[in-house]
Amino acid sequence: MALLIKNGEIVTTDARYTADIWCEGETITRIDKDIPAPPGAEVIDATGKFVFPGFIDPHVHIYLPFMGTFSKDTYVTGSQAALVGGTTTLIEMCCPSRADDTLAGFETWMAQAVGKSACDFTFHMGVTKFDDSTEAQLREIVARGISSFKIFLAYKGAFGIDDTELYRVLKLARELGVVVTAHCENETLVAERSKELLAAGKTDPGQHHESRPPLVEAEGVHHLMTFAELTGAATYIVHLSCKDALDKAIAARQRGVRVGIETLIQYLTLDKSYAELPDFEGAKYVMSPPLRDRLNQDVLWNGLRDGLVNTVATDHAPFDFENQKSMGAHDFTKIPNGIPSLEERVHLLYTHGVARGRIDLHTFVNVASTAAAKQFDLFPRKGAIQPGADADLVVFDPAYRGTISAQTQHMNVDYSAFEGWPIEGRASVVTVRGEVAARDGEFCGTIGRGQFLQRKPSHF
Ligand code: URP
Ligand code: ZN
Ligand code: ZN
Repeated sequence: MALLIKNGEIVTTDARYTADIWCEGETITRIDKDIPAPPGAEVIDATGKFVFPGFIDPHVHIYLPFMGTFSKDTYVTGSQAALVGGTTTLIEMCCPSRADDTLAGFETWMAQAVGKSACDFTFHMGVTKFDDSTEAQLREIVARGISSFKIFLAYKGAFGIDDTELYRVLKLARELGVVVTAHCENETLVAERSKELLAAGKTDPGQHHESRPPLVEAEGVHHLMTFAELTGAATYIVHLSCKDALDKAIAARQRGVRVGIETLIQYLTLDKSYAELPDFEGAKYVMSPPLRDRLNQDVLWNGLRDGLVNTVATDHAPFDFENQKSMGAHDFTKIPNGIPSLEERVHLLYTHGVARGRIDLHTFVNVASTAAAKQFDLFPRKGAIQPGADADLVVFDPAYRGTISAQTQHMNVDYSAFEGWPIEGRASVVTVRGEVAARDGEFCGTIGRGQFLQRKPSHF
């Protein structure tokens, strides 16, 4: 297998130049001007197009038993959607319930992906309890190639852990050099406020954000930061949605707390008015933390531009509108949380970020690829265009114009939160370790070719 990408404008976090990229087998082996095409090589003409490193989504849910149902994608459908949208590596949250064994949970999630995924993948290991047997199992999971944990300070009675467990997880992570990713919302405040709203007859989807306003998230962030400061653990706040929470995280960072910050494409482009749409339409936009007041969007875009916010993920969690979101028709607390966006993250980030002048191309590459590779021990195998890196490449056409629609999407879900939205620019050719896996909005890769990416902890 040999692949030559000719005349593209290569863009990385710190360089922009026109050259050819020669890939032998699964790896980039040469970057140069005017590389001749040997017989038998597949040649892609990238004239007038950008070439980016394959994009990484550091926060997705593919297999997710949650709120009495299961998220809709499988690795077969989810990895195809990812690739069509330019994402070549998935980091999934492995989320066993508190009743499950941690190691068995890891194996369950792995079995969902191996032999099915068309793109490469790894997991953040969810620690949803910390009892006598958990520590040894986590050590085993780290030895098998996992270098990040996931904890929830929300979802009381489901995934949420208590403060004793939080302290112990962080201490273990500190010892092992593992980074702890965390969903930060105060679960008690959410539970109490939800009860009050329901008792007052406020049951519609628009009440979801009333049950968990910005201060609830800010308290969760402050809480995590306090524990991180005392234990010295490296942390990463997932799906940060608002200024109040960002202020707490930045204040901690300034005190020396090790913290990465992720926001989502949903918070950058949607606001809470969508969750207030009539006739239960708002349920399509229910996720946690919730969509916020539009004022927060500028704070997040500026945070990306200034390097305060490090990554843009999706928290992809697809639930059908007809049969799943409808479980909460009379009670917003029963609407499965999540807004699918795996396929559209890169296109929306380019359209609303680069094309609108909010972030430059280097920042775009960094927040959608390289920063996640560095944070999660995948760099420079992933997130880089250099000899020795995996040949995961996105030839991107900035002149493309199109429209998002559930009718044409590859995600296995019955709606799009971005129905009818215009797209400026698209991934036109996407490669995974040297093989073309998507072309002009269609999947053409190999189901099951995706590899589990073994990672070594580095956060000592
Ligand atoms: O609403 C969300 N975020 N759903 C997925 C589960 C989680 O909290 O990440
Ligand atoms: Zn979460
Ligand atoms: Zn999530």
